[in-house]
Amino acid sequence: MSHHIVQANNLHYTYPDGTIGLSRINFKIHHGESVALVGSNGAGKSTLLLHLIGSLVSTKGDIRIGDYPLNKKNLKAVRRSAGMVFQDPDDQLFMPTVFDDVAFGPINLGLPEAEVEERVMEALDTVGISHLIRRSPHKLSGGEKRAVAIAAVIATMPDILIMDEPSSNLDPASRRRLINLLKTFTHTKIIATHDLDMALDLCERTIVLHRGEIVADGQTKELFLDEKLLAMSGLEKPLTMQGCLVCSQVKLS
Ligand SMILES: Nc1ncnc2c1ncn2[C@@H]1O[C@H](COP(=O)(O)OP(=O)(O)O)[C@@H](O)[C@H]1O
Ligand SMILES: [Mg+2]
Repeated sequence: MSHHIVQANNLHYTYPDGTIGLSRINFKIHHGESVALVGSNGAGKSTLLLHLIGSLVSTKGDIRIGDYPLNKKNLKAVRRSAGMVFQDPDDQLFMPTVFDDVAFGPINLGLPEAEVEERVMEALDTVGISHLIRRSPHKLSGGEKRAVAIAAVIATMPDILIMDEPSSNLDPASRRRLINLLKTFTHTKIIATHDLDMALDLCERTIVLHRGEIVADGQTKELFLDEKLLAMSGLEKPLTMQGCLVCSQVKLS
């Protein structure tokens, strides 16, 4: 899996009920890039991310991870290098305790018990929820569940980190902690989000989806200055770019 390039070639996906999820998707993401995936509700963000981990299989076209097309044969290897935080934590958390959920990935990687424990502690500490370790994930608040889901993926130390709306449901302090954590993650990041301020803070590159198609792919700052593009994609300028007296103190270097 050299360099972990993520590439989509003329990807199309139609849901079984005939809804078009994606069409004519083409991009190439290089190792170490941080890419935001933005677009209004129903634009196709989750559908696209699910293709990147092989949970959905395209109707036409393909995904290549590293040098290989993503298929049944290399799915296991791909899932070892790509970790995804799902949009709905309930789709990801299924064990009786937070510890078990976060340990699940490292155990599956075949790591020895002591290292599994170490990774769990570290991941929980990183997202600030060590105190929840013995709790049942299903009895946590939305934001707490989101933090567990993020910890579970961090604990596997993926080469490609894929996140579907990771900042939704987080309180401001947890959101800031997440942003700081993601800044330290130097491998590839692909983040679907409605939080354009976070996208601006974290991702040099942004892909804009609209009705299943890519309508823009370029420098985040440039795209977010394009009011016409934002309006037709159902998006709004990030607060830090709206010329507010307080926010404008935040320098957009
Ligand atoms: N299981 C499904 N069956 C049929 N259509 C679906 C299904 N999941 C999503 N869709 C449709 O696919 C399109 C893209 O959805 P989605 O990828 O969830 O968008 P986003 O994540 O950008 O909000 C939408 O029109 C949505 O209604
Ligand atoms: Mg979604």
